[in-house]
Amino acid sequence: MKNDPVVAIVGVTGAVGAEFIATMDRRNFRINRLKALASARSAGRSLNYGGKPVLIEELTERSFEGVDIALFSAGSGISRQYAPIAVRSGAVVIDNSSAFRMDPNVPLVIPEINANRIRDHKGIIANPNCAAITALVPLWPIHQNNRIKRVIISTYQAASGAGAAAMDELVQSTRANLHGQVFTQKVMPHPYAFNLFSHNTAVDPETGYNDEETKVIKETRKIFEDEAIAIGVTCVRVPVLRAHCESITFECEKPITEDQVRRILATAPGVRIVDDRANNYFPMPVDASGQDDVLVGRIRKDLSDPSGHSIAMFVAADQLLKGAALNAVQIAELLPERVMA
Ligand SMILES: NC(=O)c1ccc[n+]([C@@H]2O[C@H](COP(=O)([O-])OP(=O)(O)OC[C@H]3O[C@@H](n4cnc5c(N)ncnc54)[C@H](OP(=O)(O)O)[C@@H]3O)[C@@H](O)[C@H]2O)c1
Repeated sequence: MKNDPVVAIVGVTGAVGAEFIATMDRRNFRINRLKALASARSAGRSLNYGGKPVLIEELTERSFEGVDIALFSAGSGISRQYAPIAVRSGAVVIDNSSAFRMDPNVPLVIPEINANRIRDHKGIIANPNCAAITALVPLWPIHQNNRIKRVIISTYQAASGAGAAAMDELVQSTRANLHGQVFTQKVMPHPYAFNLFSHNTAVDPETGYNDEETKVIKETRKIFEDEAIAIGVTCVRVPVLRAHCESITFECEKPITEDQVRRILATAPGVRIVDDRANNYFPMPVDASGQDDVLVGRIRKDLSDPSGHSIAMFVAADQLLKGAALNAVQIAELLPERVMA
């Protein structure tokens, strides 16, 4: 409708871009018009939105004229270059990259946790890292109830977190492996089929932590507004096509039982408990794929802490949805600018 916003998607042909389109459609996000933006490689192709074809245009400095909301998902370099241009053109930017996440002037938002920060925006709102979102959606309601002093996270991250080309490489290399053919990887730094490796972001030679791990640590403190929370993270890429898993162990200020955690999570927004001990059925990527909720299971006392302050659990979430496109669309739904005057 005329009063609905004009929405631009930057990186519309990517793994996240495709989910922006599907999520907006599924949630009946009303728009006046969609501007589908990608690189020159994709310009001239078309995609479908709301049953109508939309032409994909090359991203340029003039792409944001008349745009009200711009969803960015084309990497940090593109966000750094074009998000300020979009803001100057009058658009509100919701950015999926890491470019602005730690900027003190940019709200870093998970709507289930800090939707109130959206109104502080000065043109850009950042979507957090997908491994951070996956952990924080279930940890937040516990933290509010009984402050988490310390958390240790080990991730099992899918190919989809590295984009469409990484997903393709996992499929192609698995096929080649099964046929006894040699496969030379181009996207990932190591063989991906029937293998796993430390996360493919740069490793700080001093600390030994990679960028993904550092993002989870810094972003957790910013989102929880708790600089004192102690966090240890190990990020690993596993040969799963879609949806991240994480093993999470946390220590609270006061004693906590697994029943208390179950009760808190039973009504937590964005969380679904999948914790069937009798059938050994717990969160799995195949069940999390295509789902909005973070699946949480294996909720149990951490036996390494006899004081009763610590709980271990295992989670799975579709990081293309809650870790990226869904979280961004949820933010867009809450924007006061969504309904134009
Ligand atoms: N995958 C995830 O789960 C996830 C989660 C959270 C955040 N993110 C972030 O989202 C961003 C995109 O991730 P992705 O997984 O969707 O990657 P992807 O599948 O590789 O897609 C990249 C997108 O960026 C576009 N692009 C590349 N260079 C461009 C240029 N010069 N001008 C305009 N568009 C350009 C591509 O267009 P062409 O097709 O035309 O090349 C494509 O649409 C990254 O910043 C990533 O860190 C991803």
